[in-house]
Amino acid sequence: SRQWRGIIEEYRDRLPVGDTTEIVTLREGGTPLVPAQVLSERTGCEVHLKVEGANPTGSFKDRGMTMAITRAKEEGAKAVICASTGNTSASAAAYAVRAGMVCAVLVPQGKIALGKMGQALVHGAKILQIDGNFDDCLTLARGLSEKYPVALVNSVNPVRIEGQKTAAFEIVDMLDDAPDIHVLPVGNAGNITAYWRGYREYAADGIASHTPRMWGFQASGSAPIVRGEVVKDPHTVATAIRIGNPASWAFAEQARDESGGLIDEVTDRQILAAYRLLAAQEGVFVEPASAASVAGLLKAAEQGKVDPGQRIVCTVTGNGLKDPDWAVAGAPQPVTVPIDADAAAERLGLA
Ligand code: F0G
Repeated sequence: SRQWRGIIEEYRDRLPVGDTTEIVTLREGGTPLVPAQVLSERTGCEVHLKVEGANPTGSFKDRGMTMAITRAKEEGAKAVICASTGNTSASAAAYAVRAGMVCAVLVPQGKIALGKMGQALVHGAKILQIDGNFDDCLTLARGLSEKYPVALVNSVNPVRIEGQKTAAFEIVDMLDDAPDIHVLPVGNAGNITAYWRGYREYAADGIASHTPRMWGFQASGSAPIVRGEVVKDPHTVATAIRIGNPASWAFAEQARDESGGLIDEVTDRQILAAYRLLAAQEGVFVEPASAASVAGLLKAAEQGKVDPGQRIVCTVTGNGLKDPDWAVAGAPQPVTVPIDADAAAERLGLA
């Protein structure tokens, strides 16, 4: 068939699935790589956006979740659990439906975007809000999965990372080689770990001629890797990356160091400026956390760290519709007009 088959079927020989494994998929992956005209002009580089909000549940998490739920089903699990800042829970809930499993999610109370909560609810997940942050949720989810018959589908589950590495494969397949720099937001640090694994794998097999430098950006109020210490009370408008003690911390540092890259921070103000630029000037609506990659690229460019002429890919990790509050906040109220062409034309400045 011509339809994209989902990341497991498309990259089956590079993923840990057996020949007879029954695959749980929503045909995730195959997401657009969009040339970014304004960002390219601003940096003097060839910048592309990997638009992961185009996945079935609206974030990159689906790449890992097809693997995690496929594996859990194969192992006979009846229930899965995850801690989440929102997107993992939305994805787990949807894939659990496909697999006929119960899904439990632990989220920090009051700190997940409404769209993500709506997804978990409508897919029928059992949601527990925790009076704490994501790190507390993950500790609890780990404890539960050790004691009770429920499979943990956070990115500490190694097959999640395997699924997520396919985004790097797609980029190389589309560009015919690896980019010079790859830029990502960093929260729990699973995704930067996954991309680095994917790029290394393709370079080792000669499909790419080199690996990119990996640039990760945390939100300033939630930047434990930048600070070199756990952040006890993380804060940022980018709730998806409001994480003070990333599970894949050491792997993120490895990706940075082995690739000659960097992990830096961006302020909420820089994140929101990039969020607005992406929507208003590139036509790509992302959630705030996703804009951390672009904010980071612009910061690095201002610091003179971006040599012109390079090929750069920024992953934008989640769809803007998940968290539209930031799109509406501060925007002018739409005006109401009578059903009259002249009146409408006047308000539109056409008359
Ligand atoms: N962007 C978005 C939209 C996310 O949802 C996340 C993580 C990240 C970036 C950071 O990726 O954790 O691999 O470094 N969201 C997780 C969740 C924590 O629960 O949905 P990371």
